[in-house]
Amino acid sequence: MRLTKEEQEMLDGKHGIAVRKSMEILVALGEIFGAKRLIDVVSVQVSGVSYHNLGEAGLDYLADLAKDGKVRVLTTLNPAGMDTENWRNLGIPEDFARKQERVIGAFRKMGIITTCTCTPYFVGNTPHFGEHVAWGESSAVCYANSVLGARTNREGGPSALASALTGKTPEFGMHLDENRQAQVVVNVDAKMERVTDFGALGYVIGNKIGKKIPLIRGVRKASVEQLKSFSASIATYGGTALFHMEGITPNKTTVPDENISVTQEEIVSAKKALDDGCTPDIYSIGCPHLSLKEIEDIAKMLEGRKVKKEMWICVARPIKRIADQMGYTKIIEDSGAKIASDTCMVVAPIKGRFKCLATDSAKACFYGRGKNHFSVVFRDIPELIEEATS
Ligand code: F3S
Repeated sequence: MRLTKEEQEMLDGKHGIAVRKSMEILVALGEIFGAKRLIDVVSVQVSGVSYHNLGEAGLDYLADLAKDGKVRVLTTLNPAGMDTENWRNLGIPEDFARKQERVIGAFRKMGIITTCTCTPYFVGNTPHFGEHVAWGESSAVCYANSVLGARTNREGGPSALASALTGKTPEFGMHLDENRQAQVVVNVDAKMERVTDFGALGYVIGNKIGKKIPLIRGVRKASVEQLKSFSASIATYGGTALFHMEGITPNKTTVPDENISVTQEEIVSAKKALDDGCTPDIYSIGCPHLSLKEIEDIAKMLEGRKVKKEMWICVARPIKRIADQMGYTKIIEDSGAKIASDTCMVVAPIKGRFKCLATDSAKACFYGRGKNHFSVVFRDIPELIEEATS
């Protein structure tokens, strides 16, 4: 891989130890994937923030980098294992909280914006069309590539951090035009109206095509919230980092020969497959984290009502601040629901506390089952709220 003079100096340790270690990671990655050079990124989203996943070894690694490492581009964090302000109310154990605080402290020392969210594009980490970024978090990667038209590979925690500390990423994969072309046309002949329709569509397409890039035809319109849900679902069930949706997403693509279809019956079956029919003991809304519109709608739905079960509303803290200002937080908390910022029901250490998770997110169904061993119920937000308050 060709390095510029500055990049070579970074690799030689002239810009400090954290930068040298970061360059070693990026150069090794570039060589494995056949990159010819490094390119500049405008922002980074770092995943692997929960102490639950990092453990002591991960914390030591971060503390080491934080000794002389400072980020060179706007960098945000994926959800952590707890709400950094409201963790007691969510039942997070004190010793876990202290360790999670040390993790966040190390990130802060490096100059990372320590609001922890999987929807960084709602809080100002919003690259525009064609810009290169280095993001972790599969749903955000898929949203950035597909909906925003930015360009990112799906980074692991160390490589994203390395990009943050150097402002560089190796040029391969999703950064190159030739790897961003559709590989299969997916003709959708189904009613696409609700968020769960899009979650189910991601489930069906992901299961059919795996990591291939689809050109999806037949979806007439899709809101930001529906695209957020679809990005999370298709990335979870298929692993793709990019989709094209005709008339909706901005990237150009060649049209492949392979064609498949998705029917209404398949969407209905997917919804059944995503629902275990259990009796929920936790309701969780906001996977990926809620938009401003969603939290406004939820407040209106909860106004004057009481939830009878545990309910988490997961949202980025800056969006919660707006909700505070608008009185939505008070309405939601008066209902007995809990707002969880910086975290979610998947990354928080809640395994064993609940048995049946009710959610509007196909992605949360997957991780609720796989990671936390919950049974799941899959419904749209209005039904979840109706059920939790009656
Ligand atoms: Fe975000 Fe947690 Fe879902 S990180 S995408 S709310 S599993």
